[in-house]
Amino acid sequence: MVELVWREEYTVGVSELDRQHQIIIQLINELGAADQTPDRADTPAETIAGILDRLTDYVTTHFALEENYMERFDYGAYEGHLEEHLRYIRTIGDLTQDQMDRKDSVSAELIDFLNEWWINHILSEDKKYTKTFNDGGLE
Ligand SMILES: [Fe+2]
Repeated sequence: MVELVWREEYTVGVSELDRQHQIIIQLINELGAADQTPDRADTPAETIAGILDRLTDYVTTHFALEENYMERFDYGAYEGHLEEHLRYIRTIGDLTQDQMDRKDSVSAELIDFLNEWWINHILSEDKKYTKTFNDGGLE
């Protein structure tokens, strides 16, 4: 599995959101390695399901925070950004379903989607809100 590494170029100019992106990347890496390193006393399938649960919870909170800021600062590209988040939630729902059927091995399709979606989304969508959020007082 290719390990994702957070880079300075991924910064969105708001430290709280950068930190959340770093934790998401960390969870994706944990998920990618979960079939090799199950938690003690858990099967790989249980470990994978547990990390996926944590990732989904964390991402839900993260999207809600971004959307809250976008509304608060009257961000012009809010609708398109929201649509991206919704597309992610739909896709990850389908891929999670497939993963549950695979049990002990992590789906390469799932990891590839996560790696690609997050880096793309941060670079092409999230970075567009930097000025609006900074002008609103976030740093
Ligand atoms: Fe976003």
